[in-house]
Amino acid sequence: MIILLVGSGGREHALAWKIAQSPLVKRLVIAPGNPGMVKLGELRTGVKADDADGLAALAREIKADLVVVGPESALEKGLADRLAAAGIPCFGPTRKAAQLETSKAFSKGFMERHEIPTAGYGVYERLHEARQALDVFKPPYVIKADGLAAGKGVAISPDRRDAEAEIERMLGGRFGSAGSRVVIEEFMDGEEGSLFALCDGERAVLLGGAQDHKRAFDGDMGPNTGGMGAYSPAPVFTPELVEAADRLVVQPTLKGMVAEGAPYRGVLYVGLMATADGPRVVEYNARFGDPECQVLMMRLDGDVVPYLLACAQGDVSGLPGLPFRDQTVICVVMAAKGYPDSPLEGSIIRGAGQDFGPHVQVFHAGTRRRDDGQLVAAGGRVLNICAAGDDIVQARERAYAAIRKIDWPGGFWRTDIGWRAVEREQATS
Ligand code: AMP
Ligand code: GLY
Repeated sequence: MIILLVGSGGREHALAWKIAQSPLVKRLVIAPGNPGMVKLGELRTGVKADDADGLAALAREIKADLVVVGPESALEKGLADRLAAAGIPCFGPTRKAAQLETSKAFSKGFMERHEIPTAGYGVYERLHEARQALDVFKPPYVIKADGLAAGKGVAISPDRRDAEAEIERMLGGRFGSAGSRVVIEEFMDGEEGSLFALCDGERAVLLGGAQDHKRAFDGDMGPNTGGMGAYSPAPVFTPELVEAADRLVVQPTLKGMVAEGAPYRGVLYVGLMATADGPRVVEYNARFGDPECQVLMMRLDGDVVPYLLACAQGDVSGLPGLPFRDQTVICVVMAAKGYPDSPLEGSIIRGAGQDFGPHVQVFHAGTRRRDDGQLVAAGGRVLNICAAGDDIVQARERAYAAIRKIDWPGGFWRTDIGWRAVEREQATS
């Protein structure tokens, strides 16, 4: 098979690493890719991940049998729709189906229409209406920009004054057109987790859960980020929670999308809050989580390609459940100092390419190779240090031991990834 993989982050490096191991794959082309992926496939660095026209043309040029889309940007621009018109199977939803992620107003309305448990909400375009609406919500206030804001368009305001300031900022253009509407939501209390399902339009194969750490600094402090680390399995996903989330969220979501004329193909990422009343949806995403994907790919025992292809072709019914290693995998993100607001570019990274042994993988995200061959930072999240272990404690030790061998004064990372699971482990042993 010839596969085109779209994207350039840690998520896509992990997908490339897994796809490249498949005996079914004859050729893997990656657009645009990153320096960590050069040995896994052919990089087309000139075709950007949001260039739907360029990507569709590339898929035709290489005669791709399957296109696997990492990030949401190309989906929002209709890459899957274009590929469908060209008869090329695409792992990733159409533009209409991707609205589950790309428009919070759509996804909230969708959940309401199909009785999928989530927080109560309102959508507002005008400042005075949004301000007034705060009367019906209780603090803390959850304020969201409607459109895509790279995971940073959400504010949790402890009091009314702060909430009003956030509303003003969002409607005032802080996120461009993504903030032309704000969503105000009821605050949900509980532990969060991300559940992933590979969907063929009608059916889903559950890929299990992971937990990420969205805040920049230790102790879950600091600004929200795209994710500073993740681990899987996450103890919050008890078998009961997974069963309830499948029954109350995943299945009704697939049925609802069919009913609305936009069957969902690709990976459905459900951000869940495990509340006292059961699982409730925080958000949907139309793609793998980053860095959740990295830990899932490392835990997966066996070939992922038949699943990606079956989803893209619309029938997973012949496939068994996915086999997972009985191990815990953790991912620690190394970010450039200044991330998420203004990451410092160009700092030198030494030692990322060494052999860290059989339990560790280093996936690149925002890296660049200079003309002299030196690896430097070229983005916010830069490296993903992933390690497998018999339990969270061992996996975590291995990841941080690898980090100590990397020489990167321009970077920072959290030192407490997996803390919830570590605390649980310590409480039970
Ligand atoms: P989102 O981009 O919608 O996932 O929101 C980012 C983060 O804000 C989530 O991961 C949650 O930690 C938090 N959050 C969002 N919505 C709510 C809510 N209704 N109640 C509590 N926390 C929320
Ligand atoms: N790690 C969270 C996300 O990918 O949105």
